[in-house]
Amino acid sequence: MNDDFLTRLPKAELHLHIEGTLEPELMFALAERNGVSLPYASIEAARKAYDFSDLQSFLDLYYQGMSVLVSAQDFEDLAMDYFRRAAAEGVVHVELHVDPQAHRARGVTLDQVMTGLTAACARARTELDLSSAMILAFLRDQPAEDAMQLLEDAQPYLQHFSAVGLDSAEQGNPPSKFREVFARARELGLERVAHAGEEGPPSYIREALDELQVCRIDHGVRAIEDIELVERLADEGTVLTVCPLSNVRLKVVEQLEHHSLPALIDAGLVVTINSDDPAYFGGGMRENFAACQKAFGWSDETLTWLASNAIEAAFMDDARREELRQRLLNL
Ligand code: HPA
Ligand code: ZN
Repeated sequence: MNDDFLTRLPKAELHLHIEGTLEPELMFALAERNGVSLPYASIEAARKAYDFSDLQSFLDLYYQGMSVLVSAQDFEDLAMDYFRRAAAEGVVHVELHVDPQAHRARGVTLDQVMTGLTAACARARTELDLSSAMILAFLRDQPAEDAMQLLEDAQPYLQHFSAVGLDSAEQGNPPSKFREVFARARELGLERVAHAGEEGPPSYIREALDELQVCRIDHGVRAIEDIELVERLADEGTVLTVCPLSNVRLKVVEQLEHHSLPALIDAGLVVTINSDDPAYFGGGMRENFAACQKAFGWSDETLTWLASNAIEAAFMDDARREELRQRLLNL
């Protein structure tokens, strides 16, 4: 009964890495198409290897997995494969983080990445009634100069990007390292988001707000360790894009029942539920909502409020936002 409610709930996904939607089935198919060798004997063996101890242990397999993505067609196939699954579970809008630096390091051009992804986004809109936005992500464990170079090189594609973001290994790579890059992005008219407070300390969340002027914090769950920060986030209505199953799989929390989500909500924060890297973390948006419903005993009202937060915080035009508001009202 409630299963059906969770599928019908119009879910906007604000925190998703498109490269993290690569299911082992497609990984193997693309490896064969492109003559790339994989370290897994089978699809099942790949899934079994997804047993992570922390963020870095995941990132190692994430960068490895994306090595099968070579042509524009591969990127289109990757995104369409995900969009179909997402639409089937009631996702109505997706904001994709894209990691061009990881592809360029392998000799794949920004043009190949963008040709494939923009084709898929256009198809998703007409074929699946799924809207999308793209976030140009910088790898925080690479030099800030490389991020700046990517931003300059991305100028021909800026109409496709709503925002810049910051991902990859957090600890030791504070937001302040990217102050100039984010200032330049702002000058270019881009919104800003950043991963902060996933593994990194609450001070990284403050830095993202003060030095990068972000409108949303990706993850942000470690804010709970700093009561003044929690109050500030509540006062300013800063949106957190929380990824419950990701946090469990990367051992940010021991088990979902111990997650700070209910406490963050009680403290008045605007949180949203997201899937991060669904192919690696055991489920998409529906699974994340369902796991929280089970762990926290959330009512349909709470689940609807969470879906509404995402629709309100999404990078989408007024007409689409109004359409999705109406869909939520008419559930
Ligand atoms: N955290 C940081 N960087 C990432 C993630 C994540 O969960 N997924 C892909 N890049
Ligand atoms: Zn993420």
